[in-house]
Amino acid sequence: MDKLVIQGGVPLRGEIRVSGAKNAALPVLCASLLTPDTLTVENVPQLQDVSTMLRLLSTMGIDFVVGDNGSVELSAARIGNPLAPYEMVKTMRASILVLGPLLARCGEATVSLPGGCAIGTRPVDQHIKGLEAMGAEIAIEHGYIKARARRLKGARIVTDLVTVTGTENLMMAATLAAGVTVIENAAREPEVANLAQCLVAMGAKIEGAGTDTVRIEGVERLHAAVHRVIADRIEAGTFLVAAVATGGDVVLRGPSPLLLDAVLEKLREAGAGVEFGPDWIRARGLARPRAVNLRTAPFPGFPTDMQAQFMVLDCIADGTGVITETIFENRYMHVPELRRMGADIDDEGNTAIIKGVGRLEGANVMATDLRASASLVLAGLVAEGETVVHRIYHLDRGYEHIEEKLSKVGARIRRAA
Ligand code: EPU
Repeated sequence: MDKLVIQGGVPLRGEIRVSGAKNAALPVLCASLLTPDTLTVENVPQLQDVSTMLRLLSTMGIDFVVGDNGSVELSAARIGNPLAPYEMVKTMRASILVLGPLLARCGEATVSLPGGCAIGTRPVDQHIKGLEAMGAEIAIEHGYIKARARRLKGARIVTDLVTVTGTENLMMAATLAAGVTVIENAAREPEVANLAQCLVAMGAKIEGAGTDTVRIEGVERLHAAVHRVIADRIEAGTFLVAAVATGGDVVLRGPSPLLLDAVLEKLREAGAGVEFGPDWIRARGLARPRAVNLRTAPFPGFPTDMQAQFMVLDCIADGTGVITETIFENRYMHVPELRRMGADIDDEGNTAIIKGVGRLEGANVMATDLRASASLVLAGLVAEGETVVHRIYHLDRGYEHIEEKLSKVGARIRRAA
């Protein structure tokens, strides 16, 4: 099993190009199910989750061609088998994103219930409730969601909570429904807006994506389109923390700073120098970081996907930081590992109190999920001595060529078997 071996203590300096966003690419790939014509998606990151999604789509009869410059052409001329089996959904919860498009296009879909995962129980009741409001008949049988609808019809849907993939699933389903659908309490994440942009290029009529009210007027058919995936704001945020935590100076190419307001604000609060232009961000660690308090929240609040990385900053900061995780109930799996590296963290329920200790020590640590593993890599970059991050496949799900990108800015990091 692959691991990453890191010799810490090098301030990172230089430029990094940020890849396309995993969480924008995955729903956009699923949007190909909505049309018999070809959807060309550009700036698709090479990630395990992207390969898993392409494999899932191909089991349904979708043809795809991966180009050499990050583009993927998908053609769902005929969908043979509108089924997402347990074996695939259990490895990647985002597989649930095929439910809405399959139902809208084929009139039926069978998708395994995702069940719990490392970061929490993560139910999909809001996806189901919304599709039912649009006239779908849904039964849960043998762990599978079995959905049917001759043609979905527009509806007003108010979700009980803000859900990113839930909003995306319902928005995709509504593009081919009869009449108008309004989703209230919609997720405002940039990835939702990016998906809407793709759907509009395919002929969908959507207003308000990126706000909490999305209005979709169903059309009979969607058509071919070319769409570009936005830059990955979480990959970007992870590298910015790496720059600041190591006392380095890094310029990121690609991301709009508008996607990262809450993160940039917290970096400044931690004492970092932050500058940006329309598609670049520079972060400098000017001195020992100051501890920051933060509370995760749906966009534009502080992203849960950056919580673990900021905890590393608090671990070495001057002062005590309080972090509250409000999105997932079990997202502190990195805490015991950071403690093994000398961190002083008290966690109870959804709150963690982190006393800055100035320095971490290299150790063997175990990755448990994607963002937890990113935080362990950051901890390794700042620690004294050698850190070995085990179970690195979690990291490969969401960070493209991470060791190459980090090596380029001076990190001493290598993959080992
Ligand atoms: N929830 C429900 N019922 C639902 C849907 C969600 O109770 O029907 C709850 C979840 O259990 C959670 C909260 O609502 O407590 C928010 O979950 P959400 O549905 O927004 O999460 P998601 O759509 O499954 C996406 C990202 C996650 C990211 C979250 C929050 C994708 C493919 N995944 O998940 O990304 O953490 O939004 O921003 O877009 C990651 O990249 O590491 C990752 C986990």
